[in-house]
Amino acid sequence: MSPETARAAFVLELRNAHAMERQSQELMKWQAVRLADYPDIEKRIRTHMEETDEQLRRLERCLESLNERPSILKDTALSLLGNLTATSNAMGEDEILKNMFSNYAFEHYELATYKSLVRMAQELGLEEAKSLLGASRSEEQKMAAWIDRHIENVTDAYLERIDQLKHAATAPG
Ligand SMILES: [Fe+2]
Repeated sequence: MSPETARAAFVLELRNAHAMERQSQELMKWQAVRLADYPDIEKRIRTHMEETDEQLRRLERCLESLNERPSILKDTALSLLGNLTATSNAMGEDEILKNMFSNYAFEHYELATYKSLVRMAQELGLEEAKSLLGASRSEEQKMAAWIDRHIENVTDAYLERIDQLKHAATAPG
């Protein structure tokens, strides 16, 4: 493969990743304010929102080092999609479960993206980009693993909660 082709492919995927992280930010922003009943999840989401801000900066640095920029069009389209996903998850009392499922899928998507980007940076011999993207990859890996470890606990907490709500609704007075 010619270096030009590889570089263009890398830029395309960096831009896609930037739009993906913007979408992720919108999703988490929406979720974070609605997680008062699940403080551990809220705390982890807020930490990951900060990590996501830094991941966006890393992607921008990678693009700048190649004299390129993020795509505003992609960023906007995908952050709208993030809002739509968040809104549709918010419908129904099992919102917390739907959020866990979407976040689980999303973090794995992000992880796969960074694995691929690190590989491209390596192929192109871009050491700085490789280490920046590697840092984001390991954050995504940790977030995906955290969600994986918490799906069952959250299910228990959810069952408990809907039971309480039901009792509160049928209690006299
Ligand atoms: Fe993430």
